[in-house]
Amino acid sequence: MKIDDLTPWKDRAGRFSALRAAAFALLAAPALWLLALLVLGRIGPEPEKAATHFTGEWTLYFLLAALAVSPLRAHLGYGRLIGLRRMIGLFAFGFIAAHFGLYILYMNGDLLKVATEVVNRVYLTIGFAALLGLAALAATSFDGAIRRMGANWRRLHALVYPLTVLGLLHYFMQSKLDVSQPALLAGIFCGLMLLRLRALRGVPPALALLLAALVAGVSAAGLEAAWHAGMTGAPWRRILLANLDFSFEVRPPWIAAAIMVAPILLLPRYRQMLRSATQS
Ligand code: HEM
Repeated sequence: MKIDDLTPWKDRAGRFSALRAAAFALLAAPALWLLALLVLGRIGPEPEKAATHFTGEWTLYFLLAALAVSPLRAHLGYGRLIGLRRMIGLFAFGFIAAHFGLYILYMNGDLLKVATEVVNRVYLTIGFAALLGLAALAATSFDGAIRRMGANWRRLHALVYPLTVLGLLHYFMQSKLDVSQPALLAGIFCGLMLLRLRALRGVPPALALLLAALVAGVSAAGLEAAWHAGMTGAPWRRILLANLDFSFEVRPPWIAAAIMVAPILLLPRYRQMLRSATQS
């Protein structure tokens, strides 16, 4: 049986790939940052708790980055990125495994207590279901598994969408009152889902990204307002209107929309415009 060469900076032909090396360095940077904070004792009074938060958030960033690969290829023609999807997905799994490991540490290694908490707290049950699903995806991310599983591989790996939703729901539930960050990420998720629609395939890329930005912004605003209204009975109209007040901060819907349109700058036409603007 041939074992995959997993050296991250090599392409399938076994040659050095600058793109893969750069991606690996970028993806590994948050782990190194976390390690440095822990070693230097700069992470705060409750290191396990802070590191649990860090790894949980980064898992979602990686999952969203993995989900962004296909739309970037379909709409912007960045075909080479597809080879990075597996690497990004494996980083997501590495982070979620660390997240769970840190939670076990936080519970002083008492596995019975961990199991009881997972069963009794719905947000942990949901997180655990997502963890098990991501473990199944990571375990079947190798060429041998892809060959052996055939069409079933695609079906299994399509689970990444519901698993990301479970991860987001876990984030909303543990955030309790301030759900601006989970709403931001959920908005981006909705924008990315829009870009997957076949109906958008023939649409000019800039227009597709603008539509995705609209969906991302509206979803982030709607989800935040709906969450507050459902949890606390707060008036959803006031929460929606708060997004138009820029005196304190830029609210998540605008950030979600800006993140969705940012790849427009990668389009050759806009890159050329930027280049001429900076040269003149
Ligand atoms: C795909 C699965 C999961 C994802 C994406 C995820 C993500 C997250 C995120 C984003 C946070 C919030 C970080 C912050 O507030 O800055 C979080 C918090 C947390 N997660 Fe997860 N998580 C997952 C699975 C799990 C599992 C399996 C457990 C343990 C059984 C767990 C336990 C916790 C705990 C204890 C917190 C902090 C809660 C608090 O401070 O009150 N998570 N998670």
